[in-house]
Amino acid sequence: MIKAGIIGGSGYTGGELIRLILNHPEADLGFVFSTTRAGKPLHSAHPDLLGETDMLFSGEIDPEIDVVFLCLGHGNSRDFLSKNQFSKETKIIDLSNDFRLAATNTLDGKTFVYGLPELQREIISQARYIANPGCFATAIQLALLPLAASNQLQQTIHINAVTGSTGAGVTPADTTHFSWRNNNVSWYKPFTHQHLGEINQSLQQLDPETGELLFLPVRGNFARGIFATAYTAFSGSLEEAQERYQKYYESAAFTALSTAPVNLKQVVNTNYAHLHLHLHNGYLLITSVIDNLLKGASGQAVENMNLIFGLEQPTGLKLKGSAF
Ligand SMILES: NC(=O)c1ccc[n+]([C@@H]2O[C@H](COP(=O)([O-])OP(=O)(O)OC[C@H]3O[C@@H](n4cnc5c(N)ncnc54)[C@H](OP(=O)(O)O)[C@@H]3O)[C@@H](O)[C@H]2O)c1
Repeated sequence: MIKAGIIGGSGYTGGELIRLILNHPEADLGFVFSTTRAGKPLHSAHPDLLGETDMLFSGEIDPEIDVVFLCLGHGNSRDFLSKNQFSKETKIIDLSNDFRLAATNTLDGKTFVYGLPELQREIISQARYIANPGCFATAIQLALLPLAASNQLQQTIHINAVTGSTGAGVTPADTTHFSWRNNNVSWYKPFTHQHLGEINQSLQQLDPETGELLFLPVRGNFARGIFATAYTAFSGSLEEAQERYQKYYESAAFTALSTAPVNLKQVVNTNYAHLHLHLHNGYLLITSVIDNLLKGASGQAVENMNLIFGLEQPTGLKLKGSAF
């Protein structure tokens, strides 16, 4: 059994990882580190785990653990790894954006590999240190990778993506306050969202001539999920586009093309990304839906763990959707 440790266990992605590892047939939970809850039961932060486990949050790490997941905010992963040493054998999967860009993906001789299996599954399976993609970045890249891979993404790409409130983390903020968020919609960071860096990096890995990405992130009044749409000029037919996407994702474990329009509920609580294509007057509209905490974070982190340890990619990720 793989022994897994989690840092930042009281947060949202940490909570999802606890649930996934507790139910993973090839992994055991070694420790869940918390700066604020050491000695308290896991269910003090995650009440749904009452009856599931009696494990306590820990104030210490086990440096010999097989794999550690870092579920910390921006800048804290680099800081945490500088202050806490793990054995040379320990695999590290970081969920923050500290190591996602090639320009900043190293620390003390460790090089982090960008962990999007649909982009580079073989490279991930040889890696020791993984930079897990961002949630918007996952939904948007999955929408665009097949076009970039066939050099069909060289015009301007217009992107709009609506996210649930869990995307902002567990700490309450003005924009996650129920009275403000509920029955409300708003945009933020228009054209400048931080995930554009990693999205551009991957697309240019496939085609250096990739066009400009104009991305408008939107806050939705729901807790989980990302509903992303992108459109760009496309000279082929809808059938050609569908064939291209089918072929690109034919061996993907969790990304599937739908012929019917997709909606958020069909993927929430699952590790799936569902895509749909629509052609109108020379523009291809791609819709991509994911659960931000699963395919957009902790589920994808487990996919990466499975690949690194030579397990089947979907191990422990056969989850039940909400459906209705
Ligand atoms: N939420 C999403 O949908 C999502 C999706 C993809 C990627 N991400 C990324 O994943 C990371 C975690 O996101 P999250 O939503 O789980 O955040 P979160 O809910 O805010 O949880 C982060 C946890 O980190 C711990 N922590 C805070 N400051 C720390 C420090 N200085 N040193 C050590 N631990 C510290 C806290 O747990 P303790 O009090 O237990 O120590 C906190 O609950 C972020 O970098 C985020 O950008 C999030």
